[in-house]
Amino acid sequence: MTVSVHPPGRFPAAAARVVVDSLRDAVRRRGACSLALAGGSTPRPVHERAAQARRAPWERVTIFFGDERGVPPGHPESNYRMARESLLDRLPVEPARVHRMEAEREDLDDAARRYAALLPDALDVLLLGIGEDGHTASLFPGSEAAAESSRKVVQTRAPVEPRRRLTVTPPVIRAARTRVVLARGASKAAAVQRALDEPGDPADCPARLAAGGHWVLDREAATLIDG
Ligand code: 6PG
Repeated sequence: MTVSVHPPGRFPAAAARVVVDSLRDAVRRRGACSLALAGGSTPRPVHERAAQARRAPWERVTIFFGDERGVPPGHPESNYRMARESLLDRLPVEPARVHRMEAEREDLDDAARRYAALLPDALDVLLLGIGEDGHTASLFPGSEAAAESSRKVVQTRAPVEPRRRLTVTPPVIRAARTRVVLARGASKAAAVQRALDEPGDPADCPARLAAGGHWVLDREAATLIDG
């Protein structure tokens, strides 16, 4: 596990550097990189800076999503829309290398199975966020999805709107070669502390699934962790 802590104003640039360095490392090792993006609001400024990075090997990157809300891709709550605005529209990535999760589909189970078939056996770089309740992707504490042990993608219901979701599962998070967790703000401090300092069942705090990864925090999100 690596934890890097940054002044709040430096968080987006520092996180973007970790992401770009992870992409470069994967391309150096394997000639290409599969990257799964996180949702929510934290990634937006990180994406904007990563899109400006001259050293990023975007032409070798295939893009996936860790989860998606059950809304159309142009909806304000869509993780795809956030990624398109802050990253994808600014990159030389052809559409065939961007795999959107079609969580707006009526048959979410079919959409989950189709998306799982697109995923590699192991993602090279998986970006994740963390919710105040310790969720990550759309794996919420105590949910069936957070206890899924075989399927790669499942449908689930969030405790907040938009409730219909598609999400990658614990096996996908565990198999990822590099996991980067992005967290900023005092509201995340308790969840970060639970995930990193309190051993326990990941089903109770799904962000624990990424405890062995690289956690990029601002000072406010890191206030409760040891060291
Ligand atoms: C989602 C995300 C989710 C997010 C956390 C943090 O679809 O909401 O995948 O796991 O990363 O909820 O969200 P913020 O970055 O908005 O705090």
